[in-house]
Amino acid sequence: MPKELALLGGKPIRTRPFTSWPIFGRAEEKRLLRTLRSGKWGKLAGPEVALFENRFAAMHGCKHAIGVVNGTVSLRIALMAAGIRADDEVIIPSYTFLSTASAVVEANAVPIFADINPDTFNLDPRSVEALVTPRTKALIPVHFAGQPADMESLMAIAQKHKLVVIEDAAHAHGASTKNRPAGSLGHMASFSFQSSKNLTCGEGGLIITNDETLAESCRSIHNCGRIPRGAWYEHHVIAGNYRLGEFQGAVLNCQLDRLESQTQLRDRNGQSLASRIAQLPGIHPQKRPSDCTRHSYHLFMLRLVSEAFGAPRAAVIKALQSEGIPCSGGYVLSLHHQPLFQTKAFGPFLPKTSKKLDYSKIHCPNSDLLCREQCLWLEQNLLLGPKADTEDIARAFEKVYENREQLNTWFRNLLAK
Ligand SMILES: Cc1ncc(COP(=O)(O)O)c(C=O)c1O
Repeated sequence: MPKELALLGGKPIRTRPFTSWPIFGRAEEKRLLRTLRSGKWGKLAGPEVALFENRFAAMHGCKHAIGVVNGTVSLRIALMAAGIRADDEVIIPSYTFLSTASAVVEANAVPIFADINPDTFNLDPRSVEALVTPRTKALIPVHFAGQPADMESLMAIAQKHKLVVIEDAAHAHGASTKNRPAGSLGHMASFSFQSSKNLTCGEGGLIITNDETLAESCRSIHNCGRIPRGAWYEHHVIAGNYRLGEFQGAVLNCQLDRLESQTQLRDRNGQSLASRIAQLPGIHPQKRPSDCTRHSYHLFMLRLVSEAFGAPRAAVIKALQSEGIPCSGGYVLSLHHQPLFQTKAFGPFLPKTSKKLDYSKIHCPNSDLLCREQCLWLEQNLLLGPKADTEDIARAFEKVYENREQLNTWFRNLLAK
């Protein structure tokens, strides 16, 4: 008889907490204090953001990096710099965070939702190709969960149709394909340093590119439309103050020192967890393409096929949580099903073509299936501990599987109440 589920009164697999996030220490304290005492708190006055931009650009083999206030604004600035105009169409995945789409709307353009590949959970190039129209001007692949998207195929489509490609690398700090860093594979890339991200300063974002003209445009847009050698009160394009601050820069310089070893650890633990739990019926961890040289595991994602596993996702999540394993089902809706898109509540950004635009007719079955019933997320900090931590996670999955009949009975009773 297998050990009783914690949900049903048994002993949980895990009572100790996992590694907490963020991780910081003396280095951050010293650098923040130094920044405080310098009195140079703004990006244009101090050395920290400039240093971080240089280091982050170099890490990606890129010539330019522009630090901004968050990873939503960075996407919008990249779109504006690319010359996206009112009513231009921008193809994005339907399985992503709001920002990938809201940045498009705020750039006065129209988000067009493509489906994802059901195994890799990344943008499906065939779905993208089918959506290209003469109005399509850009494409935003998301390296979802930290696994690089199929950039070779997507860049080929972009080249054929003359599209600008902006990588949304909000999850992908340190990830790579064929040893080329995610973020260096398109025309521009956007990163987020928001609290949950693998590289964080609380709130922050950044754009990298190798294109001098695009970089200059991003720099101007994030700095009130100023130009190099222009006067302080000289403004050339519609823009704002989106500059990343020096305290954030100081923290990011310390966090960047930690990133390489943390990324190696997450990738090692993520791969070992994936190979172990994939042995269970109905468990399909995010499929790693053969050219993925590093997954940054911002999320450890899997598909749970209830019929094969023997219990529904909602019950499995409850059981895992009771075993001491924090987890969730992730997004509850494909992005285009969110009320914002169904009602086109775009405020002043409603496109002229809006009458023809009907997001209720969009068909992204793979994304819908993940949201509705199959996807399960574990957050990146769970992969930052010793091997024993990932073993606990795997043992919890195994225990839930072994007890699937009792779990089903409990769940049926719960629904009947
Ligand atoms: C895929 C994706 N893109 C963009 C963002 C936006 O980043 P920020 O929160 O820094 O604006 C996020 C944040 O969660 C994200 O998950």
